[in-house]
Amino acid sequence: MAMLDVADKPQAATFAADKVQSGAPDPVTGYRDFTLGAFRFSRDAYFATIQWPVNGQFRTHAIPADAFLRAMMRDVAWGFFYGWVNFDHVFGTRNHYGKVDMYAGAFNGVMKDAGVDYTETFDTPVIMATFKAILHDWTNEGFDPFAAPEETGSAFGHKHGDNAAAIERTRIATRRMPGLPDDSPLRDDLPVNRAFLDVAQDEPAVHVEPCFEGQLHAFNLFKYLSRSDVTWNPSVTSVCGQSLFCPTTEEFILPVFHGNDRVEWFLQLSDEIVWDIGDKNTGSPRARITMRAGDICAMPADIRHQGYSTKRSMLLVWENATPNLPKRYESGELKPYPVEF
Ligand code: PHB
Ligand code: FE
Repeated sequence: MAMLDVADKPQAATFAADKVQSGAPDPVTGYRDFTLGAFRFSRDAYFATIQWPVNGQFRTHAIPADAFLRAMMRDVAWGFFYGWVNFDHVFGTRNHYGKVDMYAGAFNGVMKDAGVDYTETFDTPVIMATFKAILHDWTNEGFDPFAAPEETGSAFGHKHGDNAAAIERTRIATRRMPGLPDDSPLRDDLPVNRAFLDVAQDEPAVHVEPCFEGQLHAFNLFKYLSRSDVTWNPSVTSVCGQSLFCPTTEEFILPVFHGNDRVEWFLQLSDEIVWDIGDKNTGSPRARITMRAGDICAMPADIRHQGYSTKRSMLLVWENATPNLPKRYESGELKPYPVEF
């Protein structure tokens, strides 16, 4: 989201396509294997399998193919996001903004203590190109990793076709606000989602005093969100200095456990999301939060979180893009929480 789809940000992936290491399609499943550093990736009808070396042996971890592709889609689309993107309790990436760590077990307290974790650091274009190549090869026709499970076909089975259109969906790159001249469109051409049929679709009337023409703008955010065709994909929708409002529509499970490198604010705009909050380093549970429409909550800088939304809901994620925040939190200059009571 915020890291990648701000207008004018260069698309790193195109620069390193020649660095992707992959094998020939498997004669039975049709899927290619991939290698990145000492990590190996393979998929079969049901699972993505990751291997990494520890003490002269290879360790293996399997993730259901649909969950793996949903997580990888977010990591790619968000340009590795802020901080940590945990695909699950074992595997993930950490963004160093120019370089990216890929790890297995390094942020799982039990595996770390057992010494079976592994981390390797890559230049962003190389890991981006590899992740994109995996997504393209492993996503079958009819499966959309951004869609809610009820709105997409299956990820499983031997390789059949592809879905480049879903993976390469044009990113919404808002400069100031949707609907302004030369800015992102208001989604009038997308249908209202089945969960939001009761959302009013009228736009506000804007009456501008003489001399202020072209300087005042408003749009119906609920209508805009009711027409989102993707889930768990906060898109920069208003930019005010370093303050980014990134609303999103949510259904089923956030496909990653996001580990924060700064404080984020959540404002629940409709319906309900339950959040599991864990320790950022070990994953051990810290809290469970139910957010209902109108609730606001600050996610501290030292946690990871994953959300659950049974009915598609609207959430505003408020991001702080101030440069150097990760260092200021890590050094202790800033407390991990935003308010002292
Ligand atoms: C988050 O990690 O803060 C996050 C990511 C995706 C969402 C919502 C929240 O859709
Ligand atoms: Fe987050």
